[in-house]
Amino acid sequence: MNTPDECRAGAVGVARARLDGPDKVAGRARYAADAQVPGTVQGHLVTAPIARGRIRRIDPGAALALPGVVGVLDHRNAPRLDPAAGNFFGPDGSLQLLQDDAIPYAGRAVALVVAETFEQARAAAAVLRIDYETEAHDTAFSAAHPAARPALTVFGDDADTGDEDAELASCAAVVDARYRTPEQHGAAMEPHSATAWWENGRLEVLDCNQGPFTVAMTLATLMRIDPARIRIRAEHVGGGFGSKSMLGPHLVLAAMAATVFDRPVRVDLTRPQVFQTVAMRPATDQRIRIGADADGRLRAIHHEAAFASSPLAGYVENCTEATKILYAAPAIRTRLTTVPLDILPPYSVRGPGLAPGSFALESAMDELAALLGIDPVDLRLRNEPDTGPVSGLPFRGRNLTACLREGARRFGWHTRDHRPRRRREGPLLIGTGMAATNFGTGALPSSAGITAEVDGTYTVAVGASDIGTGARTALTAIAADALGVHPDHIRLRIADSDLGHAWAAGGSRGTTSWAWAVTSAAAKLRAAPPTTRPLTVTADTTEAFAALSYAERHAYSAVFTEVTVDPATGEVRVRRMLGMFAAGRIVNPLLARSQAVGGMITGLSMALHEDGVRDRDSGRNATPDFAGYHIAAHADVPDIEARFVADHDPDDPSGIKGIGEIGTVGTAAAIANAVWHATGTRRRHLPINLSRTLEPTT
Ligand code: MOS
Repeated sequence: MNTPDECRAGAVGVARARLDGPDKVAGRARYAADAQVPGTVQGHLVTAPIARGRIRRIDPGAALALPGVVGVLDHRNAPRLDPAAGNFFGPDGSLQLLQDDAIPYAGRAVALVVAETFEQARAAAAVLRIDYETEAHDTAFSAAHPAARPALTVFGDDADTGDEDAELASCAAVVDARYRTPEQHGAAMEPHSATAWWENGRLEVLDCNQGPFTVAMTLATLMRIDPARIRIRAEHVGGGFGSKSMLGPHLVLAAMAATVFDRPVRVDLTRPQVFQTVAMRPATDQRIRIGADADGRLRAIHHEAAFASSPLAGYVENCTEATKILYAAPAIRTRLTTVPLDILPPYSVRGPGLAPGSFALESAMDELAALLGIDPVDLRLRNEPDTGPVSGLPFRGRNLTACLREGARRFGWHTRDHRPRRRREGPLLIGTGMAATNFGTGALPSSAGITAEVDGTYTVAVGASDIGTGARTALTAIAADALGVHPDHIRLRIADSDLGHAWAAGGSRGTTSWAWAVTSAAAKLRAAPPTTRPLTVTADTTEAFAALSYAERHAYSAVFTEVTVDPATGEVRVRRMLGMFAAGRIVNPLLARSQAVGGMITGLSMALHEDGVRDRDSGRNATPDFAGYHIAAHADVPDIEARFVADHDPDDPSGIKGIGEIGTVGTAAAIANAVWHATGTRRRHLPINLSRTLEPTT
């Protein structure tokens, strides 16, 4: 038991190790694929090898004859799904599995073979006979594709302020360049797994996802089941990175098979299946035209971003967000273009939109600084806006300049010779680079309940999800401070759709959303202390959220890095990296640092390694495993430092913003800019891998 003094010290702001650490280290933490539901049978996915066409015939005879096989689920016996089911962007055809004979992309699930064991299911899947009728496919992406059309405006209209042409005509320097990024994958360590079964008239699910409540709602719509009859739990999740932010194909199939075969069904995706069936970040093709006067005042920013998509779903890779927020300019024009192709429908991955978008914008800013002969940090400082450059709305806590100044100081930026290709160490070229960015933050409506227990402790229930970030630990601290007790007095229940409506661990808005609901419930409890225990109060932030005024709510960063380039091989290595973040009040400095460093590692991975290759002839993903799709490994990760400047969100009850993705977003441009500084050659096409460093510049 704590003393009153310990209570007053507060739990928020204290660097506590994660509460679930010992369970994870000891192997006691249960992940989705650890589920042991009695009577479970195993479903194995069969995916289409063709990128467009039809199923002519399925002959399950050979598969059904094998030992242990329970049945084959395909478009002829699968339950009918509701085409209205979707996600944030509207109806999503990638959920409509086994509904007809059409093949809209390579890797589409066409059958689920169900057997007593995983090995039996896999063996039977290998002999399932499917004949296809192949049609010509189109998977070749470019901004100039004839199918290109304006993207949905779910993130707000394209910007169109000022007279771009007149402004550019008066500029001392103009950069006009094209930037490209490839398909990228979430690449979470834990492959997707779900077990689904019917029990007492309810569909019970053990899944790995980023939001049990939101996934349950989508599954209820899809399966035409009363939401009260679905319960999804996701106790521990081995990384999400967006790939578990929506209802996954593994769960759609497990739920259908549990219904058809009336058995608990588990579906584990193999690594190649994760790559082929779980939403990826689309390739982008972007053009930036940006100009400034001789003093480095921006006159115009024009950002056109095209991204690959699928006709099945309305996802938007919001590449132009930072362009509307970061810098003041009299003319800002943005255009988002979607290019529907015969590919897996894309969805959010690690810093969606902003990661590729800020690579383009912040590379262009660096090019402009070089043309003008202005320090890249100064160029950014000279264009700090007072209000939203496009929206005109006030900023809620904007501390980008503090990140720039403090980062430059800590990194030792001021000794830099800004001319490229000046530093060598032996055979290696050395360069430094930086980039700035924002990432949208804020809470979304959620609910929470707190029970004052007989023994003086509190049970806090919120439909949160801890995908490995330490959300449990952060929320325990938030609840402890909100209730004025020591964290030892808090019992936190999360990761269960039965705990009420809640936002997901996504969009850098998980902790903020859940924390607001928890603090609201705690305030209610403290306003009317329980006379009898146990007593439960609940709170819902929907109305408080609706009452918020419109404002620009963002986290900010400045990332500084030093790279070496071997001119003989083209090998780029990051030597050190510093991220300075203005990301609201920091709930737990230890975990926040971990999240920020992790984010920068994924940004490094994006800059130098990750390259989802789609084979033009077959239309297939040609890199569906970690041998083909490289992610940064330990040996690639140098000395990385993450620091937070004082910041808080004045509208948030806890002053917190969101730190989920801000670490990822600015890093790729900082590295690309450092590669230019080292070599004198601008790399505008990610990743900057061996072959690409030696390519002629495009
Ligand atoms: Mo995310 S990419 O906000 O799940």
